[in-house]
Amino acid sequence: MKGIILAGGSGSRLYPITISVSKQLLPVYDKPMIYYPLSVLMLAGIREILFITTPQDQKAFQKLLGNGADLGCNFEYAIQDEPKGLAEAFTIGEEFIGKEKVALILGDNIFYGNGFGNLLRSKVDVDGASIFAYPVKDPERYGVVEFDDNKKVKSIEEKPKVPKSKYAIPGLYFYDNKVVEYAKQVKPSARGEKEISTINQMYMEAGKLEVGVMTRGMSWFDTGTVESLDDATEFIRVLQNRQSTLIGCIEEVALIHKFIGKDKLESAIDKYEKSKYGDYLRNLLA
Ligand code: G1P
Repeated sequence: MKGIILAGGSGSRLYPITISVSKQLLPVYDKPMIYYPLSVLMLAGIREILFITTPQDQKAFQKLLGNGADLGCNFEYAIQDEPKGLAEAFTIGEEFIGKEKVALILGDNIFYGNGFGNLLRSKVDVDGASIFAYPVKDPERYGVVEFDDNKKVKSIEEKPKVPKSKYAIPGLYFYDNKVVEYAKQVKPSARGEKEISTINQMYMEAGKLEVGVMTRGMSWFDTGTVESLDDATEFIRVLQNRQSTLIGCIEEVALIHKFIGKDKLESAIDKYEKSKYGDYLRNLLA
């Protein structure tokens, strides 16, 4: 399975912070935001990853992450000229995806929870589409999924004014190769974007959409506003300091899942110099 991280967008809800800096490179406590979704795809066992960014930010992502060799991965980069919607990830990424299945994660979505790695690895052989539902108090900000009495998916709506349920759809999606064809058929919505929710509706209508409800033990943050970014930062700070382990440490994931050995880790550490992140990796090695 291939992976795509969508890290474009104007980040306008975070202005002035994101006027000159990509949202997905802002710190979430001690690391750039992009480390968290990248670690999620790696946890799923995905090593071939495409980063889609704005034209002006591409260089900064390349400087941070390179070609992925340090992590035993293969990273490619592509550009989304204008923020015209998430569904474009699959047309921009068509060549990269080829004949494979593909997972998409949004560059501003952070996930953490017990058993999450196993859950992810159970999705890589998806037939159709596999997405998630997460209960929130403000579903109108998100794609919303409604279930019938038998827990079957009844409807999918993008940012409905009057949500039919409390279940938001997090920015993590697993698709078979049909997604490329579906993406080409998506027409822009009223807000002028090619919505991922339209793709999910297509799979639903074809009877090929599976929705897994994320239960209490899972944490999901979308960091699109100042408050939610601050919440995510606080969450990571508290958990990391309590447990003395890092969340979203891409080198650790690469080591544990045997993308790299200790020799590679040793050479990857240098770029972190005397930071606490570097110290953590040196401890891992020891
Ligand atoms: C996007 C999707 C929405 C999803 C959300 C998750 O919203 O369109 O369906 O629930 O990401 O973060 P946007 O970030 O474009 O507001």
